[in-house]
Amino acid sequence: MSYPKRVKIVEVSPRDGLQNEKQVIDVADKLNLINGLREAGVRDIEVAGFVSPKWVPQLADASEVCARLVDDGVTQYSALTPNMKGLEGAIDAGIKQVAVFTAASESFNQKNINCSIAESFERFAPVMQKAKELGIKVRGYVSCVLGCPYEGAIDPQVVAQVSKKLYDMGCFEVSLGDTIGTGTPLKAKTMFELCAEHVPVEKLALHFHDTYGQALANIHACLELGASVIDSSVAGIGGCPYAKGATGNVSTENVVYMLNGMGIETGIDLTQLIQTGQQISEVLGRKPNSQVNHALGQK
Ligand code: HMG
Ligand code: MG
Repeated sequence: MSYPKRVKIVEVSPRDGLQNEKQVIDVADKLNLINGLREAGVRDIEVAGFVSPKWVPQLADASEVCARLVDDGVTQYSALTPNMKGLEGAIDAGIKQVAVFTAASESFNQKNINCSIAESFERFAPVMQKAKELGIKVRGYVSCVLGCPYEGAIDPQVVAQVSKKLYDMGCFEVSLGDTIGTGTPLKAKTMFELCAEHVPVEKLALHFHDTYGQALANIHACLELGASVIDSSVAGIGGCPYAKGATGNVSTENVVYMLNGMGIETGIDLTQLIQTGQQISEVLGRKPNSQVNHALGQK
């Protein structure tokens, strides 16, 4: 067992967090969120998705959000790009890091991006090629790594094979999505171990939704195996429009609090992070979905 000394937090609230919100959030509020995260020391922020506005209306303003990002020289902004059209949008908006996304479940992939797993790789091939030419880094997501809203249990070997394929085609990092948060620690460990047989452990990210309250336990189980990249969402906001009932990602406040307690560095100021979580929660008209934010935010 060897915990990492430092963990990279990839903040996904502006994209994953907001994509499921019914009320349209103003660009100014999205930028306040992004800037608050940046000022709290978050260095990797997924800010938008260049996806169909018919499918995800909340992200229709992706270009506008990206045009107004502050270039501070240290923050890496990224955006989802499911196909060439998405990549072209991201390039026009000046984005230097993108993410392609597929799944370990055929049914989920059909609902989410309207194609099979094999077809998704066909769509990604030109995206990878063009991104390479332009020096744009590409991240890869695998959804449903610990369960699918349509198929139930998912074979971890399939997760490992899809992850390997993304890595082999040039993704610099593969993010393992427990989209509906049904995973439990030993299953998370088995799945992560299998993936680590094909993708270097430092290139694997944990993207765990907290629907069943298992995300921190699952993260801890994978930290024991050397995982060092964690996707999270401030105030625990989020969900996927194509995974009914799925709630947000594990809250960044809970993750940073746990890592601080374990002596693992993130470079993030928890107090500022809590304030940012409260601000976006106010915009959304509800309390932060984060125990650490509740406990420390009231002090
Ligand atoms: P499609 O309908 O199969 O695409 O959608 P198409 O190529 O047949 O085109 C149909 C129309 O969409 C055309 O417009 C295209 O121009 C347009 P029309 O001629 O009808 O006016 N179009 C686009 N518009 C904007 N941006 C694009 C784009 N591509 C085509 N990139 C598509 C395929 C992938 C676009 C669609 O299914 C889609 O946008 N899906 C949304 C998927 C999504 O954003 N899901 C949520 C994010 S994934 C997630 O949350 C999981 C993750 O967090 C990990 C985890 O937790 O598991 C990452
Ligand atoms: Mg997600």
